[in-house]
Amino acid sequence: MSIWNRHKIFETNSLVLIVGILLVVAIGGLVEITPLFYLKSTIEVVDGVRPYTPLELTGRNIYVREGCYLCHSQMIRPLRDEVERYGHYSLAAESMYDHPFQWGSKRTGPDLARVGGKYSDDWHVTHLKNPRSIVPQSVMPGYSFLARTEVDASRLPDHLRTSRIVGVPYTDDEIANAVADLKTQTDPDSADVAAFTKRYPKAVVRNFDGQPGNPTELDALIAYLQMLGTLVDFKLYNEKANLR
Ligand code: HEC
Repeated sequence: MSIWNRHKIFETNSLVLIVGILLVVAIGGLVEITPLFYLKSTIEVVDGVRPYTPLELTGRNIYVREGCYLCHSQMIRPLRDEVERYGHYSLAAESMYDHPFQWGSKRTGPDLARVGGKYSDDWHVTHLKNPRSIVPQSVMPGYSFLARTEVDASRLPDHLRTSRIVGVPYTDDEIANAVADLKTQTDPDSADVAAFTKRYPKAVVRNFDGQPGNPTELDALIAYLQMLGTLVDFKLYNEKANLR
């Protein structure tokens, strides 16, 4: 039997055909996927990107819990209209510590990838409590209860530890200080501010919600919004890119 007739074995026996298909798909998959685990260029290392502070991470969880991603994307595409409206297009490295990432494509509201520093904390407090007090036509819901809810920090150390398992480089020191760091970030008068900003460079220390007392969920959410897109210095990034 010529080798060209052997395909009959596959065509007349469905089990052999299935095993054959699985084998071919597996080889194709391995050839495509395996190099991604070893190639250094899969995620470009970019200066400035760091893991979230405990307060920012808490804010991110609230962002996911409240479904903000259903109306807001966090990915600026390298198209002229997007870059002119929102700023430098998003880099993969900027969401390398996101589990899960918040890219999305549904934009009922604007993209938030670079909203950090665009408005004052006061603006966010007013807007999040009642968006229509700032934008009368807004369809965004109000979240005033966040200002009345204190952050539950009890699971933070476990959260950091779990993030470490999936590749976020939290140190033992950061995990041990997670609960204290949460408070420090909302208290500029704290003696621990220097140690905190050493652990998390560029982290903003402020009373985000403007209320005295323990950090609220509004503090956490605003801390998160205010850091979005602020970690990478794009002037430096582009200078380096031009040298490459
Ligand atoms: C039903 C859709 C919807 C949901 C859900 C939603 N938003 Fe919005 N958001 C909008 C719309 C529409 C706008 C534009 C009008 C305005 O500013 O209120 C907006 C504007 C914003 C802005 C201002 C952006 C800018 O550049 O001007 C921020 C910040 C924001 N939303 C944050 C949030 C957060 C945080 C959540 C979750 C707690 C959330 N949004 C949930 C629809 C939504």
